Amino acid sequence: MARTEDATLELFRSVPVIPVVVIDDASDSVALARALVAGGLRIIEITLRTAAGIEAIRRIAAEVPEAVVGAGSVLTPATAVAAEKAGARFLVSPGTTGLLRAAFEATALPCLGGAATASEAMVMAEAGFTFMKFFPAETSGGVAALKALGGPLPHLTFCPTGGIDVQRAATYLGLPNVACVGGSWITPADALRERAFDRIEALARAAVSLNDARPRR
Ligand code: 3PG
Repeated sequence: MARTEDATLELFRSVPVIPVVVIDDASDSVALARALVAGGLRIIEITLRTAAGIEAIRRIAAEVPEAVVGAGSVLTPATAVAAEKAGARFLVSPGTTGLLRAAFEATALPCLGGAATASEAMVMAEAGFTFMKFFPAETSGGVAALKALGGPLPHLTFCPTGGIDVQRAATYLGLPNVACVGGSWITPADALRERAFDRIEALARAAVSLNDARPRR
């Protein structure tokens, strides 16, 4: 089925937070995904900034069917293809080059290209991508910037990511042009190192309670 931005938005609106995972050991990926799903966060972004990323996606896609696993830090068309082959169900990039945009247009997967300015967001919208990642959110003006973008660009929706924690997330989620936020705070490096999956589940549960901060639709 062809991708539509409406279907992508509906998927991402189903959770308040997308955990952005930096994983060093793919053998932890299934336990991690199960903890996130148990905590209520079934959409999981595995970044491709570690060598374990693709294998982690492969394992989660094969063994945790309740999760919707995707690839983050997708920087090239080749990694987009590799992630899709491994079972990624969506692709996320920190920014969007011409080559990457063409790769996003060539797949039916939901794609969240990164944009940090009105011009970058407009280039994405011209290619049909009206839902995108706002990155790096906090250093690009944060909530105030998204409010300002919403004036001239009310048809665009964002997943702000970068520098967001549970407190800041609540403010972002109150904006009409924010579908969900992304963040690594749910899967901290020390929790992963210690295989503290109970702690990760609790962090996921706390993130789900951010649903209360969202405007009723
Ligand atoms: C990303 O890849 O989206 C960000 O690095 C996540 O940002 P954070 O670590 O500040 O949450």
